[in-house]
Amino acid sequence: MGSVLNNLLRSRSEALGLEIGAANLKLVELGGRGPQLRSFAIRPTPGGLFHEGLIADPGALAEEVRELVKEAHTRKRHVVTALANQVAITRIIKVPRMERKELEEAIRWEAERYIPFPIDEVVLDFDLLDDPAELEEGEEMEIVLAAAKEETVVQLVETLFAAGLEPLVVDLKPFAGLRALEPRLAPREDGERPITLYLEVGAESSSLVFLRGERPLLVRTLRVAGRDFTQAIARAFGMEPEQAEEVKREYALATLSTEDEEALLELEAPKDRPSPAEIYDAIRTILIDFTTEVRRSLDFFKSQFGEENLDQAYIAGGGSKLKGLKGLLSDALGINFSEIDPWENLKIDTGRFDAGLLQELGPEFVVPVGLALRGVSRVG
Ligand SMILES: Nc1ncnc2c1ncn2[C@@H]1O[C@H](COP(=O)(O)OP(=O)(O)OP(=O)(O)O)[C@@H](O)[C@H]1O
Ligand SMILES: [Mg+2]
Repeated sequence: MGSVLNNLLRSRSEALGLEIGAANLKLVELGGRGPQLRSFAIRPTPGGLFHEGLIADPGALAEEVRELVKEAHTRKRHVVTALANQVAITRIIKVPRMERKELEEAIRWEAERYIPFPIDEVVLDFDLLDDPAELEEGEEMEIVLAAAKEETVVQLVETLFAAGLEPLVVDLKPFAGLRALEPRLAPREDGERPITLYLEVGAESSSLVFLRGERPLLVRTLRVAGRDFTQAIARAFGMEPEQAEEVKREYALATLSTEDEEALLELEAPKDRPSPAEIYDAIRTILIDFTTEVRRSLDFFKSQFGEENLDQAYIAGGGSKLKGLKGLLSDALGINFSEIDPWENLKIDTGRFDAGLLQELGPEFVVPVGLALRGVSRVG
């Protein structure tokens, strides 16, 4: 699916999957039949290096990426990476029916009205969703349009070169995450293609994709993500971000039924820490913003596509690990989200990898595993 700077450098060698995230740098090496999990690594992104999808200090980030690669003990240097959602423009648009070659010429002109900055400053890419050969003359066809400011892409690519890597593809995070989900998007026994909602909650942004079968219908980026909860806790209690993060992971709850509330109020709060009920109060407005944004996208989807019901919904990303978040979404929206297990379709040597650790890091690794899958696919 859509990628910016596809085939920047042509190479037959297998590539690593690398996600530069606001909270974590993540690397996955796949290879051989299965494909097999060869190695993976995760390192926190030091504060201030990467923010809102832009690299603040390329030299320091390159050094961190170098360390990450070292931790993974891999000799591969080709990578498939992705733009941050905040700097990527991803749209599903209609264009006149034409061949791929023709569209390569026409894409700048077709894309211009969807791009909020001068068209000669952007990198564009597209993918056909329809086969022009199967459409009538005069009919329109749908494409995925991907765009980003050229300077943003160049900065990412140069940082990776500085880290000793060779970027092959700059992908989009939502499509990468969906790759780990592909087997679940196949037509059902009755031939019906399932309507799926994919939601990824990162640290600084979240993304939503609605699909019919494997075909994406609508892609959205949401502003609310994991870091907003941490910041709300830090603000409310005057904590450092690190302490707020710890508190969030330990006992922040996204749902508080009346019973929970009563039970929590009776809990003895540790002397130096706010009680779970106080933490809930501190993150309540963020929770409302988050569910409101998801609901808006859902309503928009329903009105645009006339689909009343989803067949399935999946959630991923480190931010989705907030306790009670799935319960909140199911109460507020009537949708039951299942977790995505990115390791599920890989061959894994259980003697080498700790099953508990893999399970714990599953949500964070949905995107990097998807990037690595592209790195070993014959077509990508
Ligand atoms: N147990 C937990 N409870 C709540 N939140 C958690 C938990 N574990 C991780 N997180 C949150 O997940 C986020 C990190 O997830 P992830 O690694 O997917 O983000 P990222 O890829 O670095 O960010 P982005 O893609 O937005 O740039 C952080 O905001 C972190 O606070
Ligand atoms: Mg991420």
